Amino acid sequence: MNLKIALLAGDGIGPEVTNEAVNVLNTVAAAGGHTFTYTSLLIGGAAIDAHGTPLPEETLKETLASDAAFLGAVGDNKFNSLPPSERPEAGLLKIRAELGGFANLRPATAYKALADNSPLRPEITEGVDILFVRELLGGLYFGQPRAWDKTTDRAHNTMVYTRHEVERVAKIAFDIAAKRDKKKVTSVDKANVLECSQLWRAVVTEVAKDYPTVTLEHQLVDSMAIHLMNRPRDFDVVLTENLFGDILSDESGVITGSLGMLPSATLGGKVNLYEPVHGSAPDIAGQGKANPIGAILTAALVLRHSAGLNAEAKIIEDAVVKVLEAGYRTTDIARGDIAGQQTVSTSKMGQLVLDQVTAEL
Ligand code: NAD
Ligand code: IPM
Ligand code: MN
Repeated sequence: MNLKIALLAGDGIGPEVTNEAVNVLNTVAAAGGHTFTYTSLLIGGAAIDAHGTPLPEETLKETLASDAAFLGAVGDNKFNSLPPSERPEAGLLKIRAELGGFANLRPATAYKALADNSPLRPEITEGVDILFVRELLGGLYFGQPRAWDKTTDRAHNTMVYTRHEVERVAKIAFDIAAKRDKKKVTSVDKANVLECSQLWRAVVTEVAKDYPTVTLEHQLVDSMAIHLMNRPRDFDVVLTENLFGDILSDESGVITGSLGMLPSATLGGKVNLYEPVHGSAPDIAGQGKANPIGAILTAALVLRHSAGLNAEAKIIEDAVVKVLEAGYRTTDIARGDIAGQQTVSTSKMGQLVLDQVTAEL
Protein backbone atom coordinates (compact mmCIF):
# COMPACT_ATOMS: atom_id res chain seq x y z
CA MET A 1 0.00 0.00 0.00
CA ASN A 2 1.00 3.64 -0.48
CA LEU A 3 1.01 6.14 2.35
CA LYS A 4 2.02 9.79 2.09
CA ILE A 5 3.09 11.00 5.52
CA ALA A 6 3.64 14.64 6.50
CA LEU A 7 6.57 14.75 8.94
CA LEU A 8 6.35 17.63 11.38
CA ALA A 9 9.39 16.95 13.53
CA GLY A 10 9.28 20.33 15.31
CA ASP A 11 11.56 21.37 18.15
CA GLY A 12 13.77 20.00 20.92
CA ILE A 13 13.59 16.22 21.08
CA GLY A 14 10.88 16.22 18.36
CA PRO A 15 13.32 15.51 15.50
CA GLU A 16 15.26 12.96 17.60
CA VAL A 17 12.25 10.78 18.37
CA THR A 18 10.61 11.28 14.96
CA ASN A 19 13.74 9.93 13.31
CA GLU A 20 13.47 6.65 15.25
CA ALA A 21 9.76 6.31 14.46
CA VAL A 22 10.42 6.81 10.74
CA ASN A 23 13.16 4.17 10.76
CA VAL A 24 10.69 1.66 12.19
CA LEU A 25 8.00 2.63 9.64
CA ASN A 26 10.53 2.19 6.82
CA THR A 27 11.41 -1.28 8.01
CA VAL A 28 7.73 -2.28 8.00
CA ALA A 29 7.31 -0.78 4.50
CA ALA A 30 10.37 -2.57 3.09
CA ALA A 31 9.33 -5.95 4.49
CA GLY A 32 5.74 -5.69 3.24
CA GLY A 33 6.41 -4.08 -0.13
CA HIS A 34 4.62 -0.89 0.94
CA THR A 35 5.59 2.58 -0.22
CA PHE A 36 5.65 5.16 2.56
CA THR A 37 6.71 8.61 1.34
CA TYR A 38 7.52 11.48 3.66
CA THR A 39 7.37 15.24 3.31
CA SER A 40 9.41 17.02 5.99
CA LEU A 41 7.69 20.25 6.98
CA LEU A 42 8.47 23.06 9.41
CA ILE A 43 6.26 23.74 12.42
CA GLY A 44 6.64 25.39 15.82
CA GLY A 45 9.82 27.18 16.85
CA ALA A 46 11.74 25.85 13.84
CA ALA A 47 9.13 27.47 11.56
CA ILE A 48 9.22 30.75 13.51
CA ASP A 49 13.00 30.84 13.08
CA ALA A 50 12.81 30.15 9.33
CA HIS A 51 9.60 31.96 8.32
CA GLY A 52 8.44 34.07 11.28
CA THR A 53 5.30 31.97 11.81
CA PRO A 54 4.70 28.71 13.72
CA LEU A 55 2.55 27.26 10.92
CA PRO A 56 3.70 28.29 7.42
CA GLU A 57 1.15 28.04 4.58
CA GLU A 58 3.19 25.37 2.85
CA THR A 59 3.20 23.15 5.95
CA LEU A 60 -0.57 23.33 6.18
CA LYS A 61 -1.11 22.79 2.45
CA GLU A 62 1.23 19.79 2.24
CA THR A 63 -0.17 18.24 5.41
CA LEU A 64 -3.72 18.54 4.10
CA ALA A 65 -2.53 16.77 0.94
CA SER A 66 -1.11 13.84 2.96
CA ASP A 67 -2.69 10.60 4.18
CA ALA A 68 -1.38 11.04 7.72
CA ALA A 69 0.57 13.60 9.75
CA PHE A 70 3.28 12.65 12.26
CA LEU A 71 4.35 15.35 14.71
CA GLY A 72 7.36 15.11 17.05
CA ALA A 73 6.90 18.02 19.46
CA VAL A 74 6.94 21.82 19.45
CA GLY A 75 8.14 24.42 21.94
CA ASP A 76 11.29 26.13 23.06
CA ASN A 77 12.01 28.23 26.12
CA LYS A 78 13.33 31.07 23.98
CA PHE A 79 9.74 31.87 22.96
CA ASN A 80 8.39 31.96 26.52
CA SER A 81 7.81 35.72 26.56
CA LEU A 82 5.63 35.67 23.40
CA PRO A 83 1.82 35.80 23.61
CA PRO A 84 0.08 32.42 23.06
CA SER A 85 -0.93 33.31 19.49
CA GLU A 86 2.70 33.76 18.40
CA ARG A 87 4.31 30.85 20.20
CA PRO A 88 5.37 27.49 18.70
CA GLU A 89 2.39 25.84 20.42
CA ALA A 90 0.03 28.05 18.36
CA GLY A 91 1.26 26.23 15.24
CA LEU A 92 0.26 22.90 16.73
CA LEU A 93 -3.16 24.14 17.83
CA LYS A 94 -3.79 25.68 14.40
CA ILE A 95 -2.87 22.52 12.52
CA ARG A 96 -5.05 20.46 14.87
CA ALA A 97 -7.97 22.78 14.12
CA GLU A 98 -7.33 22.75 10.36
CA LEU A 99 -6.99 18.96 10.17
CA GLY A 100 -10.21 18.71 12.15
CA GLY A 101 -9.46 15.62 14.26
CA PHE A 102 -11.46 15.93 17.47
CA ALA A 103 -10.86 12.55 19.13
CA ASN A 104 -7.38 12.27 20.59
CA LEU A 105 -6.69 8.68 21.66
CA ARG A 106 -4.01 8.41 24.32
CA PRO A 107 -3.42 4.82 25.49
CA ALA A 108 -1.62 4.27 28.79
CA THR A 109 -0.31 0.75 29.22
CA ALA A 110 1.61 -0.51 32.24
CA TYR A 111 4.47 -2.70 31.04
CA LYS A 112 5.54 -5.43 33.44
CA ALA A 113 9.20 -4.74 32.66
CA LEU A 114 8.78 -1.17 33.91
CA ALA A 115 6.87 -2.05 37.09
CA ASP A 116 9.78 -0.75 39.20
CA ASN A 117 9.91 2.54 37.31
CA SER A 118 6.62 3.80 38.62
CA PRO A 119 6.53 5.37 42.08
CA LEU A 120 3.28 3.39 42.42
CA ARG A 121 3.62 -0.14 43.80
CA PRO A 122 3.65 -2.92 41.14
CA GLU A 123 0.43 -4.45 42.49
CA ILE A 124 -1.31 -1.13 41.78
CA THR A 125 -0.09 -0.72 38.19
CA GLU A 126 -0.16 -4.39 37.14
CA GLY A 127 -2.35 -4.93 34.08
CA VAL A 128 -3.32 -1.27 33.65
CA ASP A 129 -4.61 -0.62 30.14
CA ILE A 130 -6.40 2.71 29.91
CA LEU A 131 -7.45 4.55 26.78
CA PHE A 132 -7.93 8.27 27.26
CA VAL A 133 -10.24 9.80 24.68
CA ARG A 134 -9.46 13.49 24.90
CA GLU A 135 -11.69 16.00 23.09
CA LEU A 136 -9.13 18.02 21.13
CA LEU A 137 -10.82 20.97 19.42
CA GLY A 138 -12.99 22.59 22.07
CA GLY A 139 -12.96 24.00 25.56
CA LEU A 140 -10.56 26.62 26.88
CA TYR A 141 -8.00 26.03 24.15
CA PHE A 142 -10.17 27.49 21.39
CA GLY A 143 -12.99 29.38 23.12
CA GLN A 144 -13.49 33.08 22.31
CA PRO A 145 -13.15 35.71 23.64
CA ARG A 146 -9.69 35.46 25.13
CA ALA A 147 -7.21 38.19 26.01
CA TRP A 148 -4.77 39.58 28.52
CA ASP A 149 -5.50 43.28 28.95
CA LYS A 150 -2.24 44.63 30.29
CA THR A 151 -3.70 48.05 31.03
CA THR A 152 -6.19 46.64 33.54
CA ASP A 153 -4.18 43.57 34.54
CA ARG A 154 -7.15 41.39 33.69
CA ALA A 155 -7.01 38.29 31.53
CA HIS A 156 -9.77 35.97 30.39
CA ASN A 157 -10.29 32.73 28.50
CA THR A 158 -13.60 31.15 27.58
CA MET A 159 -14.62 27.55 27.98
CA VAL A 160 -17.17 26.58 25.32
CA TYR A 161 -18.72 23.24 24.37
CA THR A 162 -21.64 22.50 22.08
CA ARG A 163 -23.87 19.42 22.07
CA HIS A 164 -22.42 18.47 18.69
CA GLU A 165 -18.82 18.60 19.95
CA VAL A 166 -19.58 16.43 22.97
CA GLU A 167 -21.75 13.98 21.06
CA ARG A 168 -19.25 13.21 18.32
CA VAL A 169 -16.33 12.51 20.69
CA ALA A 170 -18.56 10.53 23.08
CA LYS A 171 -19.68 8.28 20.20
CA ILE A 172 -16.07 7.48 19.38
CA ALA A 173 -15.34 6.64 23.02
CA PHE A 174 -18.37 4.34 23.27
CA ASP A 175 -17.68 2.70 19.89
CA ILE A 176 -14.19 1.83 21.10
CA ALA A 177 -15.32 0.77 24.59
CA ALA A 178 -17.90 -1.61 23.10
CA LYS A 179 -15.04 -3.55 21.48
CA ARG A 180 -12.82 -3.74 24.58
CA ASP A 181 -12.85 -6.37 27.33
CA LYS A 182 -13.99 -4.18 30.23
CA LYS A 183 -16.56 -2.25 28.15
CA LYS A 184 -16.52 0.71 30.50
CA VAL A 185 -16.47 4.47 29.90
CA THR A 186 -15.49 6.84 32.69
CA SER A 187 -16.54 10.35 31.72
CA VAL A 188 -14.57 13.02 33.56
CA ASP A 189 -15.92 16.52 34.12
CA LYS A 190 -16.38 19.26 36.71
CA ALA A 191 -20.18 19.22 36.66
CA ASN A 192 -20.36 20.44 40.27
CA VAL A 193 -19.03 23.84 39.13
CA LEU A 194 -19.06 24.32 35.34
CA GLU A 195 -22.01 24.65 32.94
CA CYS A 196 -19.82 23.21 30.16
CA SER A 197 -19.42 20.09 32.28
CA GLN A 198 -23.15 19.90 33.00
CA LEU A 199 -23.81 19.89 29.25
CA TRP A 200 -20.99 17.35 28.83
CA ARG A 201 -22.50 15.01 31.42
CA ALA A 202 -26.03 15.29 30.02
CA VAL A 203 -24.93 14.58 26.44
CA VAL A 204 -22.62 11.70 27.38
CA THR A 205 -25.47 10.14 29.41
CA GLU A 206 -27.74 10.34 26.34
CA VAL A 207 -25.13 8.88 23.99
CA ALA A 208 -24.62 5.98 26.44
CA LYS A 209 -28.21 4.86 25.89
CA ASP A 210 -27.24 3.66 22.39
CA TYR A 211 -24.57 1.39 23.88
CA PRO A 212 -26.31 -1.05 26.23
CA THR A 213 -23.24 -3.29 26.54
CA VAL A 214 -21.07 -0.45 27.83
CA THR A 215 -21.08 0.70 31.46
CA LEU A 216 -20.89 4.46 32.01
CA GLU A 217 -19.65 6.16 35.15
CA HIS A 218 -19.05 9.85 35.81
CA GLN A 219 -16.15 11.20 37.84
CA LEU A 220 -15.25 14.72 38.85
CA VAL A 221 -11.82 15.65 37.55
CA ASP A 222 -10.25 16.51 40.91
CA SER A 223 -11.04 13.18 42.55
CA MET A 224 -10.32 11.38 39.25
CA ALA A 225 -6.74 12.59 39.56
CA ILE A 226 -6.37 10.60 42.78
CA HIS A 227 -8.43 7.57 41.70
CA LEU A 228 -6.09 7.26 38.73
CA MET A 229 -3.14 6.85 41.07
CA ASN A 230 -4.88 4.75 43.74
CA ARG A 231 -6.77 2.29 41.55
CA PRO A 232 -5.80 2.74 37.87
CA ARG A 233 -6.89 -0.81 36.97
CA ASP A 234 -10.52 0.18 37.53
CA PHE A 235 -10.47 2.36 34.41
CA ASP A 236 -10.91 1.34 30.80
CA VAL A 237 -11.90 4.16 28.41
CA VAL A 238 -11.61 7.60 30.02
CA LEU A 239 -13.54 10.25 28.09
CA THR A 240 -12.90 13.88 28.87
CA GLU A 241 -12.66 17.44 27.58
CA ASN A 242 -9.58 19.10 26.18
CA LEU A 243 -7.75 20.55 29.20
CA PHE A 244 -8.70 17.78 31.65
CA GLY A 245 -7.51 15.23 29.08
CA ASP A 246 -4.22 17.05 28.65
CA ILE A 247 -3.55 16.92 32.38
CA LEU A 248 -4.82 13.40 33.13
CA SER A 249 -2.95 11.83 30.21
CA ASP A 250 0.36 13.30 31.41
CA GLU A 251 -0.49 12.02 34.89
CA SER A 252 -0.84 8.53 33.45
CA GLY A 253 2.87 8.72 32.63
CA VAL A 254 3.34 7.93 36.32
CA ILE A 255 1.62 4.57 35.80
CA THR A 256 3.65 3.68 32.71
CA GLY A 257 6.98 4.78 34.20
CA SER A 258 7.63 7.79 31.95
CA LEU A 259 5.91 10.43 29.87
CA GLY A 260 8.27 9.35 27.10
CA MET A 261 6.38 6.04 26.75
CA LEU A 262 3.02 7.49 25.70
CA PRO A 263 1.70 7.60 22.09
CA SER A 264 -1.37 9.29 20.63
CA ALA A 265 -3.55 9.33 17.54
CA THR A 266 -6.12 11.98 16.63
CA LEU A 267 -9.04 10.79 14.53
CA GLY A 268 -12.21 12.19 13.06
CA GLY A 269 -10.86 14.93 10.78
CA LYS A 270 -9.59 15.27 7.23
CA VAL A 271 -6.14 13.86 8.01
CA ASN A 272 -5.29 11.83 11.12
CA LEU A 273 -2.62 13.44 13.30
CA TYR A 274 -0.18 11.26 15.22
CA GLU A 275 1.99 12.62 18.05
CA PRO A 276 3.66 11.28 21.16
CA VAL A 277 2.07 12.77 24.28
CA HIS A 278 5.28 14.37 25.55
CA GLY A 279 6.66 17.78 24.61
CA SER A 280 9.95 19.06 23.24
CA ALA A 281 11.77 18.40 26.55
CA PRO A 282 14.27 21.29 26.28
CA ASP A 283 16.03 19.98 29.41
CA ILE A 284 17.33 16.90 27.55
CA ALA A 285 17.19 17.99 23.88
CA GLY A 286 20.24 17.30 21.73
CA GLN A 287 21.81 14.90 24.24
CA GLY A 288 20.61 11.56 22.84
CA LYS A 289 18.68 11.00 26.08
CA ALA A 290 15.12 11.16 24.77
CA ASN A 291 13.03 8.02 25.00
CA PRO A 292 11.81 7.29 21.45
CA ILE A 293 9.29 4.63 22.54
CA GLY A 294 6.33 7.05 22.73
CA ALA A 295 7.08 8.08 19.14
CA ILE A 296 7.67 4.49 18.00
CA LEU A 297 4.36 3.38 19.54
CA THR A 298 2.80 6.35 17.76
CA ALA A 299 4.17 4.91 14.49
CA ALA A 300 2.31 1.69 15.36
CA LEU A 301 -0.87 3.75 15.64
CA VAL A 302 -0.22 5.20 12.16
CA LEU A 303 -0.14 1.65 10.81
CA ARG A 304 -3.30 0.67 12.67
CA HIS A 305 -5.46 3.73 12.01
CA SER A 306 -4.20 5.05 8.65
CA ALA A 307 -2.87 1.95 6.88
CA GLY A 308 -4.96 -0.94 8.18
CA LEU A 309 -1.71 -2.78 8.98
CA ASN A 310 -2.90 -4.17 12.31
CA ALA A 311 -0.51 -7.12 12.45
CA GLU A 312 2.48 -4.86 11.80
CA ALA A 313 1.30 -2.42 14.48
CA LYS A 314 1.16 -5.30 16.95
CA ILE A 315 4.66 -6.43 15.93
CA ILE A 316 5.99 -2.98 16.85
CA GLU A 317 4.17 -3.00 20.19
CA ASP A 318 5.45 -6.49 20.98
CA ALA A 319 8.98 -5.49 19.95
CA VAL A 320 8.91 -2.65 22.48
CA VAL A 321 7.92 -5.12 25.21
CA LYS A 322 10.76 -7.49 24.26
CA VAL A 323 13.39 -4.74 24.26
CA LEU A 324 12.22 -3.56 27.67
CA GLU A 325 12.19 -7.12 28.98
CA ALA A 326 15.77 -7.53 27.75
CA GLY A 327 16.71 -4.70 30.15
CA TYR A 328 17.42 -1.83 27.76
CA ARG A 329 16.52 1.59 29.13
CA THR A 330 16.78 5.21 28.09
CA THR A 331 17.71 7.53 30.97
CA ASP A 332 14.10 8.36 31.91
CA ILE A 333 13.28 4.70 32.57
CA ALA A 334 16.69 3.62 33.88
CA ARG A 335 17.08 2.32 37.41
CA GLY A 336 20.82 2.12 38.05
CA ASP A 337 20.17 0.18 41.26
CA ILE A 338 18.52 -2.75 39.46
CA ALA A 339 20.78 -5.47 38.05
CA GLY A 340 20.55 -6.52 34.42
CA GLN A 341 19.69 -3.12 33.01
CA GLN A 342 21.63 -1.22 30.41
CA THR A 343 21.19 2.48 29.75
CA VAL A 344 21.10 3.30 26.04
CA SER A 345 20.79 6.41 23.86
CA THR A 346 17.78 7.47 21.80
CA SER A 347 19.21 6.03 18.58
CA LYS A 348 20.34 2.80 20.23
CA MET A 349 16.86 2.26 21.67
CA GLY A 350 15.40 2.93 18.23
CA GLN A 351 17.81 0.43 16.67
CA LEU A 352 17.01 -2.24 19.26
CA VAL A 353 13.28 -1.97 18.59
CA LEU A 354 13.94 -1.92 14.85
CA ASP A 355 16.07 -5.09 15.04
CA GLN A 356 13.31 -6.82 16.98
CA VAL A 357 10.68 -5.68 14.47
CA THR A 358 12.84 -6.93 11.59
CA ALA A 359 13.16 -10.32 13.25
CA GLU A 360 9.37 -10.65 13.56
CA LEU A 361 8.29 -9.35 10.14
P1 NAD B 1 7.78 17.90 28.28
O1 NAD B 1 6.82 16.80 27.99
O2 NAD B 1 8.55 18.43 27.15
O3 NAD B 1 8.81 17.40 29.40
C1 NAD B 1 8.39 17.08 30.72
C2 NAD B 1 9.48 16.23 31.40
O4 NAD B 1 9.45 14.92 30.84
C3 NAD B 1 10.88 16.76 31.18
O5 NAD B 1 11.65 16.52 32.32
C4 NAD B 1 11.40 15.93 30.02
O6 NAD B 1 12.79 15.77 30.00
C5 NAD B 1 10.68 14.61 30.24
N1 NAD B 1 10.41 13.95 28.95
C6 NAD B 1 9.45 14.28 28.06
N2 NAD B 1 9.50 13.49 27.00
C7 NAD B 1 10.53 12.64 27.20
C8 NAD B 1 11.10 11.57 26.44
N3 NAD B 1 10.62 11.22 25.25
N4 NAD B 1 12.15 10.92 26.97
C9 NAD B 1 12.65 11.24 28.16
N5 NAD B 1 12.16 12.23 28.93
C10 NAD B 1 11.11 12.92 28.45
O7 NAD B 1 6.94 19.05 28.99
P2 NAD B 1 7.38 20.54 29.42
O8 NAD B 1 8.79 20.53 29.90
O9 NAD B 1 6.31 21.02 30.30
O10 NAD B 1 7.31 21.38 28.07
C11 NAD B 1 8.41 21.67 27.24
C12 NAD B 1 7.90 22.29 25.95
O11 NAD B 1 7.17 21.32 25.18
C13 NAD B 1 6.95 23.45 26.14
O12 NAD B 1 7.26 24.42 25.18
C14 NAD B 1 5.58 22.85 25.87
O13 NAD B 1 4.64 23.78 25.41
C15 NAD B 1 5.92 21.85 24.80
N6 NAD B 1 4.98 20.74 24.66
C16 NAD B 1 4.71 20.33 23.38
C17 NAD B 1 3.90 19.24 23.16
C18 NAD B 1 3.65 18.81 21.76
O14 NAD B 1 4.28 19.31 20.86
N7 NAD B 1 2.75 17.86 21.50
C19 NAD B 1 3.39 18.52 24.25
C20 NAD B 1 3.70 18.95 25.54
C21 NAD B 1 4.50 20.06 25.74
C1 IPM C 1 -0.13 18.10 24.32
C2 IPM C 1 0.48 19.45 24.58
C3 IPM C 1 -0.30 20.53 23.85
C4 IPM C 1 -1.71 20.56 24.44
C5 IPM C 1 0.30 21.95 23.87
C6 IPM C 1 1.74 21.96 23.47
C7 IPM C 1 -0.47 22.87 22.99
O1 IPM C 1 0.55 19.70 25.95
O2 IPM C 1 -0.22 17.70 23.15
O3 IPM C 1 -0.50 17.41 25.27
O4 IPM C 1 -1.92 21.18 25.48
O5 IPM C 1 -2.58 19.97 23.81
MN1 MN D 1 0.09 17.94 27.15
